[in-house]
Amino acid sequence: MTLSPLEAMKLAIEEGKKGAGFVSPNPLVGAVILDRHYNLVGLGHHQRVGHAHAEVNALKEIENPGHLDGAHVFVTLEPCAHEGRTPSCAKTLAELPIASVTYGLKDPNPLVAGKGAQILREAGKTVALFTDLQDELEELSEIFLMNMRFKRPFVAVKVASSLDGRIALGTGESQWITNEESRAHVQYLRGCYDAVLTGAGTFLRDDPRLNSRDAHFTGKNQRVVLLDPSGKSFAKLEKSQLWSVRKPEDIFVITGPLGLDAPEGISHVEIPDADGAFEMTALMEALMEAEIHSLFVEAGAYTVSSFLKARLVDRLYLFQAPKILGEGMSWTSGFTLSSIQQAPILRHPRLENFGDDFLVTGRLH
Ligand SMILES: NC(=O)c1ccc[n+]([C@@H]2O[C@H](COP(=O)([O-])OP(=O)(O)OC[C@H]3O[C@@H](n4cnc5c(N)ncnc54)[C@H](OP(=O)(O)O)[C@@H]3O)[C@@H](O)[C@H]2O)c1
Repeated sequence: MTLSPLEAMKLAIEEGKKGAGFVSPNPLVGAVILDRHYNLVGLGHHQRVGHAHAEVNALKEIENPGHLDGAHVFVTLEPCAHEGRTPSCAKTLAELPIASVTYGLKDPNPLVAGKGAQILREAGKTVALFTDLQDELEELSEIFLMNMRFKRPFVAVKVASSLDGRIALGTGESQWITNEESRAHVQYLRGCYDAVLTGAGTFLRDDPRLNSRDAHFTGKNQRVVLLDPSGKSFAKLEKSQLWSVRKPEDIFVITGPLGLDAPEGISHVEIPDADGAFEMTALMEALMEAEIHSLFVEAGAYTVSSFLKARLVDRLYLFQAPKILGEGMSWTSGFTLSSIQQAPILRHPRLENFGDDFLVTGRLH
């Protein structure tokens, strides 16, 4: 199969997505190798943190070493220059008889930025930064880029709402607003992030499991973060479903400075609060320290609004069922603006269908 450079980079992006949920804190990366006649000869992605990088996995696919003579490598992120848990990809590629390396994004890691490209240029390879598909490339690496640029976890918020934006009836009932297909996709999305986060309100009302039951993530540590300023979950935690499906140390309960004894074995983190509302910067720092680099927020309006107010929502997954629920909880109640100009805007929105439900997803700025 012959591919154009654009097709090769698109394929590398799709390939990179396959590592979702397993590579943290590394980026998702995909690589494609074309022989000198632009025939596809290698395809690979970074599968797991600590394991081989995408370029190396693509090289492993090449059965005939002659295919590397004058070959063209397309990779979504600049090949790494440094020796970490794995050898430098730039050095590995530099030693091969390939002709060119085209990469999608410059690595924002100061240890690497520009250095991978330099190693390859010094070895006589043609090196180019791809100028097309920048939105798709940024999206593939969005968690890593956020971690590197702003030193905080990437925050994705999932909402299951009615057409009129309700996430629960006035009675608190919310199961189920969306259909089984939407909920199956949520199972997949939970696995793509380092932890699912919820608020004390949802924990006490719904007793949710919040783990991914998607077979793709079997065996993955299922971390959950519970925002509970006054520690009212402590008495119920050991009998909860959160507890029944994961190890206690994978339950992170964030409270204010209480001086209370938490249930044994859980990860209890105390952070500053003012009148029960957490200092959101302190929350982000505590989560990074706990090696939670990305969050999938599934919570009620209070929690979602506290992230919106702090402008900490990076990606929205808004599932909408074709139902009207009338009076009830809106997913943004608690979030107010004084002018339309301040409204967060969904960038690069995509619409998908799950049966009769819709999913709108995009980046929030
Ligand atoms: N359809 C959906 O997508 C969906 C998803 C999840 C939940 N729900 C529904 O939402 C309802 C619950 O909503 P809710 O707003 O009451 O609960 P919630 O947002 O899940 O939890 C709110 C509580 O969490 C704590 N909390 C959250 N963010 C905080 C922050 N930034 N600082 C300090 N504390 C924070 C506070 O605990 P304290 O009260 O101790 O101060 C707060 O009252 C339920 O009916 C549930 O079924 C719907």
